[in-house]
Amino acid sequence: SSRRRFFAQTGAGMLAWAGLPSWLQAMEGMGDMPRMAPNKASPNFHPDVEIDLICKPSAISILPGQQTRVQQYFAKLVKGPANTLTELPGSYLGPVLRFQTGQKIRITLHNQLDELSITHWHGLHVPAKMDGHPLYSLDKGQTFVYEFEMLNRASMNIYHPHPHDITGKQVYHGLAGAILVNDEEERKLELPSGEYEIPIVIQDRRFNDQNQLIYAHGMHDRMMGFYGNRILVNGLPNFHLDVASRAYRLRVLNASTARIYKLAWDDNSPITVIGTDGGLLEAPIKKSYVMLAPGERLDVWADFSGRKVGSQLVLRSRPFSGALPGMASRMGGMHGNALPMGSDYPIFSVKVTKQAGDSPTLPKALSKIHHYTLADTANPQKPIPIGITEGRMKMVLNGRPYAYNDILPNERIPFDTVQLMEIFHDHGGGHGGHKMGGMGMGMRRGGGDSDSGHKMGGMGGGGMGMMMAMAHPIHLHGQYFQILSRSGGEGQGYASVKDGFIEGGWKDTVLVMPGETVRIIKPFQDFKGLFMMHCHNLEHEDMGMMRDLSIE
Ligand code: C2O
Ligand code: CU
Repeated sequence: SSRRRFFAQTGAGMLAWAGLPSWLQAMEGMGDMPRMAPNKASPNFHPDVEIDLICKPSAISILPGQQTRVQQYFAKLVKGPANTLTELPGSYLGPVLRFQTGQKIRITLHNQLDELSITHWHGLHVPAKMDGHPLYSLDKGQTFVYEFEMLNRASMNIYHPHPHDITGKQVYHGLAGAILVNDEEERKLELPSGEYEIPIVIQDRRFNDQNQLIYAHGMHDRMMGFYGNRILVNGLPNFHLDVASRAYRLRVLNASTARIYKLAWDDNSPITVIGTDGGLLEAPIKKSYVMLAPGERLDVWADFSGRKVGSQLVLRSRPFSGALPGMASRMGGMHGNALPMGSDYPIFSVKVTKQAGDSPTLPKALSKIHHYTLADTANPQKPIPIGITEGRMKMVLNGRPYAYNDILPNERIPFDTVQLMEIFHDHGGGHGGHKMGGMGMGMRRGGGDSDSGHKMGGMGGGGMGMMMAMAHPIHLHGQYFQILSRSGGEGQGYASVKDGFIEGGWKDTVLVMPGETVRIIKPFQDFKGLFMMHCHNLEHEDMGMMRDLSIE
């Protein structure tokens, strides 16, 4: 099974399948994923844009010295505007794909990896069959033809693999890319474009002394998520931009498997956000810092026009707590991780090297958003529960690890409705009388802040009894949603992040902090079928912290 392969390929020697203790084997038994035949090109579909997309093993220079073995997307434009594909120079990341709302798009995926894969279009509103569900995973040598119309508004989205159990591993080894969608509303704003619009894909990686990637040493890495000890931007270390003294548009994406960033400029000038996952906000927002969890995006207006030639600026991740149990951030040291999440470190630097004649100015109004209210929902009194359970060696949703064809009544959504959904930490008690499955065994909620981590049982020894309270970026496939409310964030950890959420726009991933209950409103229109929801801490996803929603 792919699971066996996962353990074989992590190669750490610590977790070879045969050597797993029985309790761990039991935890790993989340059922096998059946496979459906790949989709073929339809003669009735007339694409405006056609792309050949290949995923395969490759090697690339990242650090000085030896090349690093990676897995990589390569793309070829078969038909469509030349700006559809933009390579990121020197990067293992796939090319940036640029689409226009309304385009008909055909993408033929060729899997040339030595393992199963399928590509998901994170954020795009496409039919269930085109969504890259693990059901459609391809063997080496197989192809899948995606055909869909671009229904999304202008936004930044992601393409990345979604095979059962090995999504994190494949993303970590390089398989990811950005998708930019443009539309009329956005074009009218004449935002910075061309060389003034820059993708910023943030990832963390850990290398051994032969420059090879290290991934997932053991259960600890899967419970906490895997954290690298260096930051890459667009696949490059020590990322630096030389800019002109004018406004830029930075399209920021957190494509790390687990790391959460608290982004701020080092001179304490505010960070100006014009958009989130699902595109432009109604108006720009200025923040002293912004939280960015795996899977989330930010559209940042970075205006260097007041700055002198020669001046420098650094985007940093600032200290915060409460997203990981306190013990876990210290655990970094035990695993040779010099970069604990929640510490203070640079992401990339900017230097003004040219005087610009003039600069575009920040629009006061950006877009129109219809804000959902409870009155728009089919279920204002009875939210669809999405329970986060952190149990004994378990990270699951709705009390159950992912299994195909295991749809709970609450996971069936009537087609063409708008639903109120509630994401909450389920400590064994279930939700509003709905038992989620009682997986909260032996677990208590952590205390008020990151110090709760002190009370965690030792992870390394035999006694795995533990209390946890982690932050989880919860992602729902299909249409974007809106955040209605957040409540219950706990203690000092929460205080160190709470001003960094941007909620006024469209989202597809929301960071849920320890103790928090987040209510969202999400439409389920246009397409029936299976759409996944999962934690975008990809190690959690691969542990089974994922469910199918069945739109029917
Ligand atoms: Cu970006 Cu189901 O994922
Ligand atoms: Cu999670």
